[in-house]
Amino acid sequence: MPLLIALATDKLPEKGSLIITATDGGKLGPLGKQLDKKTGGAISKAMKIKKFKGKPASMFALLAPAKSDLDRIVVLGVGDGKKLSASDAEKMGGTALGAVEKAEGNVVFLLEPMGSNVADGEIAARAAIGAFLRDYKFENYKTKNKSTGGPKKFTVATKALAAGKKAHAELKAVADGTIVARNLVNEPSNILTPPEFAKRAKALSKLGVKVEVLSEAQMKKLGMGSLLGVGQGSVQPSQMVVMQWQGAAKSKQPIAFVGKGVCFDTGGISIKPAGGMEDMKGDMGGAAAVTGLMHALASRKAKVNAVGILGLVENMPDGNAQRPGDIVTSMSGQTIEVLNTDAEGRLVLADALWYTQKRFKPKFMIDLATLTGAIMIALGQDYAGMFASDDKLAQQLAEVGEAEGEKVWRMPMNDNFDKMINTPNADMKNIGGRYAGSSTAAQFLKRFTNDVPWVHLDIAGTAMGSPKSTTSRSWASGYGVRLLDRLVKAHYEK
Ligand code: BES
Ligand code: MN
Ligand code: ZN
Repeated sequence: MPLLIALATDKLPEKGSLIITATDGGKLGPLGKQLDKKTGGAISKAMKIKKFKGKPASMFALLAPAKSDLDRIVVLGVGDGKKLSASDAEKMGGTALGAVEKAEGNVVFLLEPMGSNVADGEIAARAAIGAFLRDYKFENYKTKNKSTGGPKKFTVATKALAAGKKAHAELKAVADGTIVARNLVNEPSNILTPPEFAKRAKALSKLGVKVEVLSEAQMKKLGMGSLLGVGQGSVQPSQMVVMQWQGAAKSKQPIAFVGKGVCFDTGGISIKPAGGMEDMKGDMGGAAAVTGLMHALASRKAKVNAVGILGLVENMPDGNAQRPGDIVTSMSGQTIEVLNTDAEGRLVLADALWYTQKRFKPKFMIDLATLTGAIMIALGQDYAGMFASDDKLAQQLAEVGEAEGEKVWRMPMNDNFDKMINTPNADMKNIGGRYAGSSTAAQFLKRFTNDVPWVHLDIAGTAMGSPKSTTSRSWASGYGVRLLDRLVKAHYEK
Protein backbone atom coordinates (compact mmCIF):
# COMPACT_ATOMS: atom_id res chain seq x y z
CA MET A 1 0.00 0.00 0.00
CA PRO A 2 1.48 3.35 -0.95
CA LEU A 3 1.86 5.79 1.85
CA LEU A 4 -0.71 8.55 2.17
CA ILE A 5 1.14 11.83 1.83
CA ALA A 6 -0.59 15.08 2.77
CA LEU A 7 0.09 18.69 3.65
CA ALA A 8 -1.25 20.33 6.80
CA THR A 9 -0.79 23.46 8.82
CA ASP A 10 2.17 23.71 11.20
CA LYS A 11 1.38 22.32 14.62
CA LEU A 12 3.11 19.98 17.04
CA PRO A 13 1.36 16.60 16.98
CA GLU A 14 0.41 14.80 20.20
CA LYS A 15 1.05 11.25 19.01
CA GLY A 16 3.01 9.23 16.50
CA SER A 17 6.38 10.30 15.11
CA LEU A 18 7.55 13.83 14.56
CA ILE A 19 10.42 14.99 12.39
CA ILE A 20 11.75 18.48 12.97
CA THR A 21 14.56 20.25 11.20
CA ALA A 22 17.67 21.94 12.54
CA THR A 23 19.72 24.39 10.49
CA ASP A 24 23.46 25.13 10.70
CA GLY A 25 24.81 24.91 14.22
CA GLY A 26 21.77 22.89 15.32
CA LYS A 27 19.31 25.78 15.30
CA LEU A 28 15.69 24.86 15.89
CA GLY A 29 12.62 26.82 14.76
CA PRO A 30 10.15 28.32 17.26
CA LEU A 31 8.02 25.17 17.43
CA GLY A 32 11.14 23.02 17.77
CA LYS A 33 12.28 25.16 20.66
CA GLN A 34 8.86 24.90 22.26
CA LEU A 35 9.08 21.13 22.04
CA ASP A 36 12.58 21.16 23.47
CA LYS A 37 11.28 23.08 26.44
CA LYS A 38 8.33 20.76 26.86
CA THR A 39 10.58 17.72 26.95
CA GLY A 40 12.84 19.25 29.57
CA GLY A 41 15.56 20.21 27.10
CA ALA A 42 15.98 16.63 25.85
CA ILE A 43 16.53 17.76 22.27
CA SER A 44 19.22 20.31 22.98
CA LYS A 45 20.91 17.91 25.41
CA ALA A 46 20.99 15.19 22.75
CA MET A 47 22.44 17.65 20.23
CA LYS A 48 25.25 18.46 22.63
CA ILE A 49 26.02 14.81 23.33
CA LYS A 50 26.05 13.97 19.63
CA LYS A 51 27.90 17.15 18.68
CA PHE A 52 25.05 17.61 16.23
CA LYS A 53 25.66 20.58 13.94
CA GLY A 54 22.64 20.37 11.65
CA LYS A 55 24.65 19.27 8.60
CA PRO A 56 22.46 18.28 5.63
CA ALA A 57 20.97 14.76 6.00
CA SER A 58 22.56 14.26 9.44
CA MET A 59 19.99 13.13 12.00
CA PHE A 60 19.21 11.48 15.30
CA ALA A 61 16.08 10.15 16.96
CA LEU A 62 14.78 10.44 20.51
CA LEU A 63 12.52 7.49 21.28
CA ALA A 64 9.63 7.84 23.73
CA PRO A 65 10.61 11.38 24.75
CA ALA A 66 9.65 12.26 28.32
CA LYS A 67 6.59 14.42 29.07
CA SER A 68 5.14 13.68 25.65
CA ASP A 69 2.98 10.99 24.03
CA LEU A 70 5.11 10.95 20.90
CA ASP A 71 6.77 7.71 19.82
CA ARG A 72 9.81 9.53 18.57
CA ILE A 73 11.25 12.87 17.65
CA VAL A 74 13.64 12.81 14.72
CA VAL A 75 15.88 15.83 14.31
CA LEU A 76 16.99 16.25 10.71
CA GLY A 77 19.82 18.57 9.72
CA VAL A 78 19.30 20.82 6.69
CA GLY A 79 22.49 22.91 6.70
CA ASP A 80 22.19 26.56 5.76
CA GLY A 81 18.43 27.09 5.57
CA LYS A 82 18.90 30.26 3.53
CA LYS A 83 20.57 28.27 0.78
CA LEU A 84 17.96 25.53 0.65
CA SER A 85 16.97 24.93 -2.99
CA ALA A 86 13.84 23.27 -4.34
CA SER A 87 15.78 20.14 -5.12
CA ASP A 88 17.38 20.16 -1.64
CA ALA A 89 13.85 20.28 -0.24
CA GLU A 90 12.94 17.24 -2.28
CA LYS A 91 15.94 15.30 -1.05
CA MET A 92 15.09 16.40 2.48
CA GLY A 93 11.61 14.88 2.05
CA GLY A 94 13.11 11.62 0.83
CA THR A 95 15.59 11.53 3.70
CA ALA A 96 12.83 12.30 6.20
CA LEU A 97 10.74 9.41 4.94
CA GLY A 98 13.77 7.12 5.09
CA ALA A 99 14.25 8.07 8.74
CA VAL A 100 10.82 6.76 9.74
CA GLU A 101 10.53 3.75 7.43
CA LYS A 102 10.06 1.44 10.38
CA ALA A 103 7.82 3.75 12.43
CA GLU A 104 4.27 2.59 13.07
CA GLY A 105 1.57 5.22 13.32
CA ASN A 106 1.37 8.62 11.71
CA VAL A 107 4.35 10.78 10.89
CA VAL A 108 4.46 14.56 10.84
CA PHE A 109 7.35 16.28 9.09
CA LEU A 110 7.33 19.79 10.49
CA LEU A 111 8.87 22.42 8.24
CA GLU A 112 9.35 25.74 9.95
CA PRO A 113 10.42 28.82 7.95
CA MET A 114 14.17 28.70 7.27
CA GLY A 115 14.66 31.96 5.39
CA SER A 116 15.31 30.34 2.02
CA ASN A 117 14.70 32.17 -1.27
CA VAL A 118 12.43 29.32 -2.21
CA ALA A 119 8.95 30.01 -0.84
CA ASP A 120 7.87 27.98 2.18
CA GLY A 121 4.90 26.52 0.30
CA GLU A 122 7.17 25.32 -2.48
CA ILE A 123 9.59 23.80 0.03
CA ALA A 124 6.80 21.89 1.72
CA ALA A 125 5.42 20.70 -1.61
CA ARG A 126 8.85 19.58 -2.79
CA ALA A 127 9.48 17.73 0.47
CA ALA A 128 6.19 15.87 0.04
CA ILE A 129 7.15 14.97 -3.54
CA GLY A 130 10.55 13.71 -2.41
CA ALA A 131 8.87 11.45 0.12
CA PHE A 132 6.35 10.28 -2.48
CA LEU A 133 9.04 9.34 -5.00
CA ARG A 134 11.09 7.55 -2.38
CA ASP A 135 8.09 5.61 -1.15
CA TYR A 136 7.52 3.99 -4.58
CA LYS A 137 8.07 0.24 -4.67
CA PHE A 138 7.48 -2.22 -7.47
CA GLU A 139 5.81 -5.08 -5.63
CA ASN A 140 2.83 -6.01 -7.83
CA TYR A 141 4.16 -9.49 -8.34
CA LYS A 142 5.04 -10.36 -4.78
CA THR A 143 2.48 -12.60 -3.16
CA LYS A 144 4.35 -12.77 0.13
CA ASN A 145 6.94 -10.83 2.07
CA LYS A 146 5.71 -7.54 0.66
CA SER A 147 7.01 -4.62 2.63
CA THR A 148 4.41 -4.10 5.30
CA GLY A 149 4.45 -2.07 8.47
CA GLY A 150 5.86 1.43 8.46
CA PRO A 151 3.77 4.57 8.68
CA LYS A 152 0.41 4.81 6.95
CA LYS A 153 0.37 8.56 6.78
CA PHE A 154 3.13 11.10 6.26
CA THR A 155 2.10 14.71 6.73
CA VAL A 156 4.23 17.67 5.80
CA ALA A 157 3.28 20.51 8.14
CA THR A 158 3.82 24.10 7.02
CA LYS A 159 2.66 27.62 7.82
CA ALA A 160 2.25 28.21 4.09
CA LEU A 161 -0.44 25.58 3.67
CA ALA A 162 -2.44 27.19 0.86
CA ALA A 163 0.62 27.93 -1.29
CA GLY A 164 2.00 24.51 -0.45
CA LYS A 165 -1.13 22.74 -1.63
CA LYS A 166 -1.17 24.68 -4.87
CA ALA A 167 2.47 23.92 -5.64
CA HIS A 168 1.94 20.32 -4.63
CA ALA A 169 -0.91 19.75 -7.09
CA GLU A 170 1.31 20.71 -10.05
CA LEU A 171 4.32 18.79 -8.82
CA LYS A 172 2.24 15.74 -8.05
CA ALA A 173 1.02 15.57 -11.65
CA VAL A 174 4.63 15.37 -12.77
CA ALA A 175 5.68 12.92 -10.04
CA ASP A 176 2.75 10.71 -11.07
CA GLY A 177 4.18 10.81 -14.59
CA THR A 178 7.52 9.64 -13.19
CA ILE A 179 5.74 6.75 -11.48
CA VAL A 180 3.96 5.86 -14.74
CA ALA A 181 7.40 5.62 -16.39
CA ARG A 182 8.92 3.64 -13.52
CA ASN A 183 6.08 1.14 -13.57
CA LEU A 184 6.40 0.59 -17.31
CA VAL A 185 10.16 0.07 -17.12
CA ASN A 186 9.98 -2.25 -14.12
CA GLU A 187 7.26 -4.38 -15.71
CA PRO A 188 8.53 -7.71 -17.11
CA SER A 189 8.40 -8.32 -20.85
CA ASN A 190 6.02 -11.28 -20.73
CA ILE A 191 3.43 -8.80 -19.44
CA LEU A 192 4.45 -5.58 -21.14
CA THR A 193 4.37 -6.63 -24.80
CA PRO A 194 3.95 -3.99 -27.51
CA PRO A 195 0.13 -4.41 -27.57
CA GLU A 196 -0.05 -4.23 -23.76
CA PHE A 197 2.11 -1.10 -23.77
CA ALA A 198 -0.19 0.44 -26.39
CA LYS A 199 -3.17 -0.44 -24.21
CA ARG A 200 -1.62 1.34 -21.24
CA ALA A 201 -0.88 4.38 -23.38
CA LYS A 202 -4.53 4.36 -24.45
CA ALA A 203 -5.51 4.80 -20.81
CA LEU A 204 -4.22 8.38 -21.13
CA SER A 205 -7.36 9.21 -23.08
CA LYS A 206 -9.02 9.50 -19.65
CA LEU A 207 -6.89 12.61 -19.14
CA GLY A 208 -7.90 14.11 -22.48
CA VAL A 209 -4.98 12.81 -24.53
CA LYS A 210 -5.92 11.65 -28.02
CA VAL A 211 -4.32 8.24 -28.55
CA GLU A 212 -4.03 6.33 -31.83
CA VAL A 213 -2.37 2.97 -32.37
CA LEU A 214 -0.91 2.07 -35.77
CA SER A 215 -0.97 -1.62 -36.65
CA GLU A 216 1.71 -3.48 -38.62
CA ALA A 217 -0.49 -3.30 -41.69
CA GLN A 218 -0.79 0.48 -41.38
CA MET A 219 2.94 0.86 -40.82
CA LYS A 220 3.66 -1.33 -43.80
CA LYS A 221 1.47 0.89 -45.93
CA LEU A 222 3.41 3.91 -44.71
CA GLY A 223 6.65 2.21 -45.73
CA MET A 224 8.15 1.72 -42.27
CA GLY A 225 10.43 -1.12 -43.34
CA SER A 226 13.10 -0.16 -40.84
CA LEU A 227 10.92 -0.45 -37.73
CA LEU A 228 9.05 -3.48 -39.02
CA GLY A 229 12.28 -5.36 -39.75
CA VAL A 230 13.16 -5.24 -36.06
CA GLY A 231 9.86 -6.75 -34.95
CA GLN A 232 9.54 -9.39 -37.66
CA GLY A 233 11.12 -12.14 -35.57
CA SER A 234 8.66 -11.71 -32.73
CA VAL A 235 5.26 -13.30 -32.29
CA GLN A 236 4.22 -9.96 -30.78
CA PRO A 237 3.00 -7.47 -33.34
CA SER A 238 4.87 -4.17 -33.59
CA GLN A 239 2.84 -1.06 -32.86
CA MET A 240 3.23 2.65 -33.12
CA VAL A 241 1.43 4.83 -30.60
CA VAL A 242 0.56 8.44 -31.41
CA MET A 243 -0.48 10.58 -28.44
CA GLN A 244 -1.66 14.16 -28.81
CA TRP A 245 -2.20 16.64 -26.02
CA GLN A 246 -3.82 19.87 -27.09
CA GLY A 247 -3.42 22.45 -24.34
CA ALA A 248 -3.02 25.51 -26.58
CA ALA A 249 -4.78 26.95 -29.63
CA LYS A 250 -5.20 24.40 -32.39
CA SER A 251 -3.20 26.53 -34.78
CA LYS A 252 -0.14 26.43 -32.55
CA GLN A 253 2.73 24.29 -33.83
CA PRO A 254 3.25 21.26 -31.57
CA ILE A 255 6.43 20.06 -29.94
CA ALA A 256 7.18 16.36 -30.28
CA PHE A 257 8.67 13.62 -28.14
CA VAL A 258 9.64 10.26 -29.57
CA GLY A 259 10.46 7.16 -27.51
CA LYS A 260 12.33 3.95 -28.26
CA GLY A 261 10.02 1.17 -27.10
CA VAL A 262 11.89 -2.10 -27.50
CA CYS A 263 9.81 -4.15 -25.09
CA PHE A 264 12.56 -6.74 -24.99
CA ASP A 265 15.92 -6.66 -26.71
CA THR A 266 17.56 -10.07 -27.09
CA GLY A 267 19.80 -8.58 -29.76
CA GLY A 268 17.96 -10.67 -32.37
CA ILE A 269 20.17 -12.93 -34.53
CA SER A 270 23.18 -10.90 -33.30
CA ILE A 271 22.14 -12.26 -29.93
CA LYS A 272 23.34 -10.82 -26.64
CA PRO A 273 25.22 -12.88 -24.04
CA ALA A 274 23.00 -14.40 -21.32
CA GLY A 275 24.49 -12.53 -18.36
CA GLY A 276 22.40 -9.50 -17.54
CA MET A 277 20.13 -9.94 -20.53
CA GLU A 278 17.14 -9.59 -18.20
CA ASP A 279 17.91 -5.88 -18.00
CA MET A 280 16.70 -5.57 -21.57
CA LYS A 281 13.12 -5.59 -20.28
CA GLY A 282 13.88 -1.92 -19.70
CA ASP A 283 14.79 -1.20 -23.31
CA MET A 284 11.52 0.69 -23.65
CA GLY A 285 12.67 3.35 -21.16
CA GLY A 286 12.41 6.06 -23.81
CA ALA A 287 8.82 5.16 -24.65
CA ALA A 288 8.04 4.98 -20.92
CA ALA A 289 9.41 8.49 -20.37
CA VAL A 290 7.35 9.87 -23.25
CA THR A 291 4.22 8.20 -21.85
CA GLY A 292 4.94 9.53 -18.37
CA LEU A 293 5.53 12.99 -19.81
CA MET A 294 2.21 12.99 -21.68
CA HIS A 295 0.56 11.89 -18.43
CA ALA A 296 2.18 14.81 -16.61
CA LEU A 297 1.34 17.43 -19.25
CA ALA A 298 -2.27 16.32 -19.47
CA SER A 299 -2.81 16.01 -15.72
CA ARG A 300 -1.52 19.48 -15.06
CA LYS A 301 -3.25 20.80 -18.17
CA ALA A 302 -0.09 22.28 -19.62
CA LYS A 303 -0.74 25.13 -22.06
CA VAL A 304 1.10 23.52 -24.92
CA ASN A 305 0.41 21.30 -27.89
CA ALA A 306 2.53 18.19 -27.49
CA VAL A 307 2.83 14.99 -29.47
CA GLY A 308 4.20 11.73 -28.06
CA ILE A 309 5.23 8.95 -30.45
CA LEU A 310 6.20 5.45 -29.35
CA GLY A 311 7.87 2.85 -31.55
CA LEU A 312 6.96 -0.45 -29.90
CA VAL A 313 8.63 -3.69 -30.97
CA GLU A 314 10.20 -6.82 -29.58
CA ASN A 315 13.65 -7.82 -30.89
CA MET A 316 13.79 -11.63 -31.05
CA PRO A 317 15.84 -14.32 -32.84
CA ASP A 318 13.56 -16.53 -34.89
CA GLY A 319 13.19 -18.31 -38.22
CA ASN A 320 11.54 -15.15 -39.45
CA ALA A 321 13.92 -12.68 -37.81
CA GLN A 322 15.97 -10.27 -39.86
CA ARG A 323 19.55 -11.32 -40.61
CA PRO A 324 22.83 -9.43 -40.48
CA GLY A 325 23.36 -8.13 -43.99
CA ASP A 326 19.68 -7.59 -44.72
CA ILE A 327 18.86 -4.30 -46.43
CA VAL A 328 15.64 -2.54 -45.42
CA THR A 329 13.91 0.53 -46.83
CA SER A 330 12.81 3.12 -44.30
CA MET A 331 9.76 5.37 -44.56
CA SER A 332 12.08 8.20 -45.64
CA GLY A 333 13.06 6.15 -48.68
CA GLN A 334 16.63 5.78 -47.42
CA THR A 335 17.95 2.22 -47.39
CA ILE A 336 19.78 0.65 -44.44
CA GLU A 337 22.11 -2.31 -44.36
CA VAL A 338 21.51 -4.07 -41.05
CA LEU A 339 24.97 -5.30 -40.10
CA ASN A 340 24.09 -5.95 -36.47
CA THR A 341 20.53 -6.78 -35.48
CA ASP A 342 21.34 -5.64 -31.93
CA ALA A 343 21.64 -2.04 -33.12
CA GLU A 344 17.85 -2.07 -33.39
CA GLY A 345 16.81 1.04 -31.47
CA ARG A 346 18.01 3.38 -34.22
CA LEU A 347 16.07 1.31 -36.78
CA VAL A 348 12.88 1.83 -34.78
CA LEU A 349 13.54 5.53 -34.27
CA ALA A 350 14.42 6.09 -37.93
CA ASP A 351 10.81 5.51 -38.95
CA ALA A 352 9.32 7.04 -35.80
CA LEU A 353 11.26 10.30 -36.28
CA TRP A 354 10.51 10.51 -39.98
CA TYR A 355 6.81 9.90 -39.37
CA THR A 356 6.72 12.49 -36.59
CA GLN A 357 8.22 15.33 -38.61
CA LYS A 358 6.24 14.47 -41.69
CA ARG A 359 2.86 14.28 -40.02
CA PHE A 360 3.15 16.96 -37.35
CA LYS A 361 5.71 19.50 -38.65
CA PRO A 362 6.76 20.09 -35.04
CA LYS A 363 8.71 23.05 -33.69
CA PHE A 364 11.24 20.49 -32.49
CA MET A 365 11.61 16.77 -31.83
CA ILE A 366 13.26 15.24 -28.78
CA ASP A 367 13.82 11.51 -28.80
CA LEU A 368 14.64 9.41 -25.76
CA ALA A 369 16.23 6.01 -26.14
CA THR A 370 18.17 3.41 -24.19
CA LEU A 371 20.30 3.35 -27.29
CA THR A 372 23.90 2.41 -26.57
CA GLY A 373 25.96 0.64 -23.95
CA ALA A 374 28.73 3.06 -24.95
CA ILE A 375 26.95 6.01 -23.33
CA MET A 376 27.16 4.24 -19.95
CA ILE A 377 30.89 3.81 -20.43
CA ALA A 378 31.27 7.50 -21.27
CA LEU A 379 28.91 9.12 -18.77
CA GLY A 380 27.88 6.58 -16.15
CA GLN A 381 24.46 6.76 -14.57
CA ASP A 382 24.05 10.43 -13.60
CA TYR A 383 23.98 12.05 -17.02
CA ALA A 384 22.04 11.21 -20.13
CA GLY A 385 24.01 11.71 -23.34
CA MET A 386 22.62 14.63 -25.31
CA PHE A 387 23.10 15.00 -29.06
CA ALA A 388 21.61 18.03 -30.71
CA SER A 389 21.15 19.74 -34.02
CA ASP A 390 19.86 22.81 -32.18
CA ASP A 391 22.06 24.75 -29.75
CA LYS A 392 19.28 26.70 -28.09
CA LEU A 393 17.26 23.61 -27.25
CA ALA A 394 20.40 21.86 -26.02
CA GLN A 395 21.20 24.80 -23.75
CA GLN A 396 17.66 24.88 -22.36
CA LEU A 397 17.80 21.16 -21.62
CA ALA A 398 21.17 21.46 -19.90
CA GLU A 399 19.76 24.16 -17.63
CA VAL A 400 16.48 22.54 -16.69
CA GLY A 401 18.31 19.25 -16.21
CA GLU A 402 20.60 20.78 -13.59
CA ALA A 403 17.67 22.42 -11.82
CA GLU A 404 15.51 19.32 -11.81
CA GLY A 405 18.25 16.83 -10.97
CA GLU A 406 17.83 14.92 -14.26
CA LYS A 407 21.07 15.88 -15.89
CA VAL A 408 22.22 15.80 -19.50
CA TRP A 409 25.71 16.11 -20.94
CA ARG A 410 26.17 17.26 -24.48
CA MET A 411 28.12 14.92 -26.73
CA PRO A 412 29.67 15.68 -30.11
CA MET A 413 28.26 15.17 -33.59
CA ASN A 414 30.14 15.87 -36.83
CA ASP A 415 30.66 14.84 -40.43
CA ASN A 416 33.39 12.34 -39.60
CA PHE A 417 31.06 10.40 -37.33
CA ASP A 418 28.47 10.62 -40.06
CA LYS A 419 30.83 9.10 -42.64
CA MET A 420 31.41 6.13 -40.35
CA ILE A 421 27.93 4.80 -41.14
CA ASN A 422 28.34 4.87 -44.93
CA THR A 423 28.40 1.50 -46.70
CA PRO A 424 28.94 0.48 -50.34
CA ASN A 425 25.78 -1.64 -50.28
CA ALA A 426 23.08 0.84 -49.24
CA ASP A 427 22.53 4.45 -48.16
CA MET A 428 23.87 3.63 -44.70
CA LYS A 429 24.63 0.81 -42.31
CA ASN A 430 23.27 0.54 -38.78
CA ILE A 431 26.62 0.33 -36.96
CA GLY A 432 29.68 2.56 -37.12
CA GLY A 433 32.52 0.49 -35.77
CA ARG A 434 34.29 0.25 -32.44
CA TYR A 435 34.82 3.93 -31.73
CA ALA A 436 32.35 6.64 -30.74
CA GLY A 437 29.42 4.23 -30.69
CA SER A 438 26.98 6.70 -29.14
CA SER A 439 27.91 9.45 -31.60
CA THR A 440 27.58 7.27 -34.70
CA ALA A 441 24.19 6.12 -33.41
CA ALA A 442 23.16 9.76 -33.08
CA GLN A 443 24.41 10.57 -36.59
CA PHE A 444 22.26 7.74 -37.85
CA LEU A 445 19.17 9.23 -36.19
CA LYS A 446 19.95 12.68 -37.53
CA ARG A 447 19.57 11.36 -41.07
CA PHE A 448 15.88 10.85 -40.29
CA THR A 449 15.09 14.26 -38.80
CA ASN A 450 14.79 16.09 -42.12
CA ASP A 451 16.53 19.09 -40.51
CA VAL A 452 13.77 19.70 -37.97
CA PRO A 453 15.42 21.03 -34.76
CA TRP A 454 16.17 17.88 -32.83
CA VAL A 455 17.73 16.49 -29.68
CA HIS A 456 18.50 12.86 -28.95
CA LEU A 457 18.85 11.75 -25.34
CA ASP A 458 20.66 8.46 -24.85
CA ILE A 459 19.24 7.27 -21.54
CA ALA A 460 20.75 3.77 -21.42
CA GLY A 461 22.63 4.73 -18.24
CA THR A 462 19.96 6.82 -16.51
CA ALA A 463 16.66 5.01 -17.11
CA MET A 464 17.31 1.65 -15.48
CA GLY A 465 19.60 -0.24 -13.15
CA SER A 466 19.60 3.00 -11.21
CA PRO A 467 21.53 3.32 -7.98
CA LYS A 468 19.37 3.90 -4.92
CA SER A 469 19.10 7.57 -4.05
CA THR A 470 17.29 9.70 -1.48
CA THR A 471 14.28 9.95 -3.79
CA SER A 472 14.32 6.55 -5.49
CA ARG A 473 14.72 2.96 -4.36
CA SER A 474 13.53 1.69 -7.72
CA TRP A 475 15.43 -0.16 -10.47
CA ALA A 476 13.66 2.05 -12.97
CA SER A 477 14.23 5.74 -12.30
CA GLY A 478 11.54 7.27 -14.49
CA TYR A 479 14.27 9.50 -15.91
CA GLY A 480 13.18 12.10 -18.44
CA VAL A 481 9.65 12.91 -17.32
CA ARG A 482 10.66 15.68 -14.96
CA LEU A 483 13.38 16.97 -17.26
CA LEU A 484 11.00 17.41 -20.18
CA ASP A 485 8.06 18.63 -18.14
CA ARG A 486 10.28 21.35 -16.76
CA LEU A 487 11.54 22.20 -20.24
CA VAL A 488 7.95 22.66 -21.38
CA LYS A 489 6.99 24.65 -18.30
CA ALA A 490 10.01 26.93 -18.45
CA HIS A 491 10.05 27.64 -22.20
CA TYR A 492 7.12 26.34 -24.23
CA GLU A 493 3.91 27.27 -22.43
CA LYS A 494 2.40 30.57 -23.25
N1 BES B 1 19.41 -1.63 -25.87
C1 BES B 1 20.78 -1.69 -26.22
C2 BES B 1 21.62 -0.65 -25.46
C3 BES B 1 21.70 -0.81 -23.97
C4 BES B 1 22.72 -1.53 -23.39
C5 BES B 1 20.77 -0.21 -23.16
C6 BES B 1 22.78 -1.67 -22.02
C7 BES B 1 20.84 -0.34 -21.78
C8 BES B 1 21.85 -1.06 -21.21
C9 BES B 1 20.95 -1.44 -27.72
O1 BES B 1 19.91 -1.89 -28.50
C10 BES B 1 22.16 -2.17 -28.14
O2 BES B 1 22.15 -3.37 -28.10
N2 BES B 1 23.19 -1.43 -28.56
C11 BES B 1 24.41 -2.01 -28.99
C12 BES B 1 24.81 -1.32 -30.28
C13 BES B 1 25.92 -2.00 -31.00
C14 BES B 1 25.48 -3.32 -31.54
C15 BES B 1 26.38 -1.09 -32.11
C16 BES B 1 25.45 -1.78 -27.89
O3 BES B 1 25.43 -0.72 -27.25
O4 BES B 1 26.25 -2.67 -27.67
MN1 MN C 1 20.12 -3.91 -29.05
ZN1 ZN D 1 18.08 -2.00 -27.62
